[in-house]
Amino acid sequence: MLRDGINQSIIISGESGAGKTETAKIAMQYLAALGGANGMESEVLQTNVILEALGNAKTSRNDNSSRFGKLIEMHFSETGKICGAKIQTFLLEKSRVVRRAPGERSYHIFYQLCSGASPLHRKKLLLRDANYYNYLKQSACLRIDGVDDAKRFSSLLGALDIVQISGENQMELFSMLAVVLWLGNISFSVIDNENHVEVDSNEGLANAAKLLGCSVPQLVIALSTRKIQAGKENIVQRLTLTQALDARDALAKSIYAHLFDWIVEQINHSLGTGRQRTRRSISILDIYGFESFNKNGFEQFCINYANERLQQHFNRHLFKLEQEEYLDDGIDWASVEFVDNADCLSLFEKSL
Ligand SMILES: Nc1ncnc2c1ncn2[C@@H]1O[C@H](COP(=O)(O)OP(=O)(O)OP(=O)(O)O)[C@@H](O)[C@H]1O
Ligand SMILES: [Mg+2]
Repeated sequence: MLRDGINQSIIISGESGAGKTETAKIAMQYLAALGGANGMESEVLQTNVILEALGNAKTSRNDNSSRFGKLIEMHFSETGKICGAKIQTFLLEKSRVVRRAPGERSYHIFYQLCSGASPLHRKKLLLRDANYYNYLKQSACLRIDGVDDAKRFSSLLGALDIVQISGENQMELFSMLAVVLWLGNISFSVIDNENHVEVDSNEGLANAAKLLGCSVPQLVIALSTRKIQAGKENIVQRLTLTQALDARDALAKSIYAHLFDWIVEQINHSLGTGRQRTRRSISILDIYGFESFNKNGFEQFCINYANERLQQHFNRHLFKLEQEEYLDDGIDWASVEFVDNADCLSLFEKSL
């Protein structure tokens, strides 16, 4: 990169649990050790702690499975020192916030918050233990063997400080997480034989409204009715039970996804993405592992499709490089016919 002035990139591919994230972290640590000097390298490394808390979860294949794709661009100065970084993420698995297979967990941060928050935080966030929340207890898995969520929470707080996320912003982050948890405890009762519902007046409803900063009736309207425009008239219709549950879960997923994007934005701001792009950067792409569940939703389709496309891009790129090498060696690759392995071997030997 320094010699030729050309940006470099590393694609880390493989199925879930293969070790992509660990490899990406080792590569980042190596680059940080080579290009560290001004403290920026520790900020860059601490972003892993934050993004893993919000974007990783225990699955049946991996206790720390990334549920999003990540590209980190590390920028270097003329002398090869890290001078900034930029993170881009893609395809966060939103459905995990509200539903997942038995034995799997939602995102680590929920369990970390519930077990590690200080008494003051717990009071402000109206927080209870993880097993109190429907969204967390439904998959019957609250702990990971050998992992202390409370300890991880204090590491997360340290990382948020290092990356310069202000105390106020940290509190905003935690209150929105608490909103998501309380939304899951909101329930509905069917009030007529057409399956229309009203929202039960419970603690979930009161706490979610309080933390969202809206009134209880406003939240009730948002969760149990929809507005239809017919001509010049607005008609308000009550939702059926399935629709209301979908509306509640969609709100929880949307809050979480926005929160994730917001934290990435905050991190990028702190890592100095405003500065001009140099021609000296190394990017590391930690993809989201291929998976095939018993039941695959649209999100899984998008993830596997994105991975297939990336793999194709990688293959094409490699073949192009290979062809260039053949041309340099004066071999007419277009007329080469591979009949069997012996032919390949003899061609390989000739090229040596
Ligand atoms: N180099 C390594 N040293 C020690 N343990 C490792 C290493 N690579 C992988 N592991 C072990 O394998 C587990 C899975 O690795 P990792 O989280 O990197 O997988 P992944 O390919 O990113 O999977 P996913 O697609 O689900 O995110 C780690 O939690 C760790 O226990
Ligand atoms: Mg991973």
